[in-house]
Amino acid sequence: MLKLDYTYMTDEVIGRFGVAEGELDAAIPRVSEIHRQLQERREKGTLPFYSLPFQDDLDALIEQADAMASRFDNIVVLGIGGSALGTIAIARALLPQHNNLLDRTRRGDRPRLFVLDNIDPAGVNETLGLLAPEKTCFCVISKSGTTVETMSQFLIARKWLEDAVGEKYRDHFVLITDPESGVLRGLAESQGYASAAVPSGVGGRFSVFTAVGLLPLAAAGVDVKALLAGAAGIYPQLTDGDIFTNPAYLNGLLQYLAYGKGAHIGVMMPYSDQLSAVADWYCQLWAESLGKKFDLDGETVHVGPTPVKALGATDQHSQLQLYMEGPFDKVVTFLAAENGQQAGIPDSSDIPALAYLGGKDLSELLSSEQRATAIALARAGRPNCTIRLGAIDAAHVGALLFMLEVQTVFAGALFNVNPLDQPGVESGKIITSAFMGRAGYEAQRTDVESWEKLAKSKVLTAG
Ligand code: PA5
Repeated sequence: MLKLDYTYMTDEVIGRFGVAEGELDAAIPRVSEIHRQLQERREKGTLPFYSLPFQDDLDALIEQADAMASRFDNIVVLGIGGSALGTIAIARALLPQHNNLLDRTRRGDRPRLFVLDNIDPAGVNETLGLLAPEKTCFCVISKSGTTVETMSQFLIARKWLEDAVGEKYRDHFVLITDPESGVLRGLAESQGYASAAVPSGVGGRFSVFTAVGLLPLAAAGVDVKALLAGAAGIYPQLTDGDIFTNPAYLNGLLQYLAYGKGAHIGVMMPYSDQLSAVADWYCQLWAESLGKKFDLDGETVHVGPTPVKALGATDQHSQLQLYMEGPFDKVVTFLAAENGQQAGIPDSSDIPALAYLGGKDLSELLSSEQRATAIALARAGRPNCTIRLGAIDAAHVGALLFMLEVQTVFAGALFNVNPLDQPGVESGKIITSAFMGRAGYEAQRTDVESWEKLAKSKVLTAG
């Protein structure tokens, strides 16, 4: 069960930066209209991420994952953005914290899972240096099948494997990509690589419940059936038009109203190491979906909340000072959960100043700190809400991620932007292609190099 506690979002409790009951009531006609539109798009199949909790072919995917698990000791995901962050979030939540350090028996006889979501040569070299090629399988994940970072990693991994295992290198890859287009799909068809499809119409950041997340996670031992069952369990509420039934709509609306009062920064702050990477995943989902130059009417709006990740209790000693006393431009969403773990603090009566801690548990300290931070922020007039998970297990994590996806699409409609595209990232990609000498980009290279010359560089050298 998920609980959305929005007590400290209300004006009754926090004053002028809080949301008034009347504002929620006034939004109801707009919410109903958005709900009608989303329902229509769901029925037409133009929002296919909504149906991902209900999949007929999950057994086939699990079989494929089990076959990978029995053959290999290492699964390495090559992917970036939406092709990697969901896997990282769920692995962090549901696998042991130091899973890759455990021996195979303690990993439930499952391979280790690595996610290479950057192209820093240091990280790539170090990871490959740890692995035995003959026992390593790469999931190359790219919806478009052309992303330069992932393609470059693929070429490096291919050579690394070819040098070690020769012609059999292809058996060490699974290409997870669009069913029809892109370089990866072409390779899968023409060169016999194993592959899996990312359904059409499901973009990267909404793809965690496709093979993108499910295949590597199932291979590493995550119960993907329970994950989807959790998402399916919350589906009836997430497709309800009433904001007091649908937590995704309610939280989307609260975040939107807070934005309207100047809270342009949305902090997600899990009080749980296991949920820390959910905040990273959410930051990408929220930023790429809502940060837009144009609205749906073609007007220039430059809109969108800036997501920030914080971790409790760690960031109480880092960012919290700013949240408490800095500008009134933030709304905090806490993630809180019991994980069933205990770490008792021994009797400390011999140190009078610490005696009050003796006999308590770290779990009690952590939950007290979350509660205390929420109250302190509220008393300082700072809006905050808490999403509480009944447990940190596959079902709850599935429900949480699905709720946040629906919240994002709903918020997109409130902001009147398209939450499914990301036109702003294109210009950097084009310039990179020009710098890397890609055919067809010669004119862009000339253009950008002359622009660079005009922008006279100002550099301060020190040391
Ligand atoms: O959410 C998105 O659409 C993006 O973050 C993509 O996942 C990211 O750009 C990687 O794209 P691709 O999966 O096509 O390699």
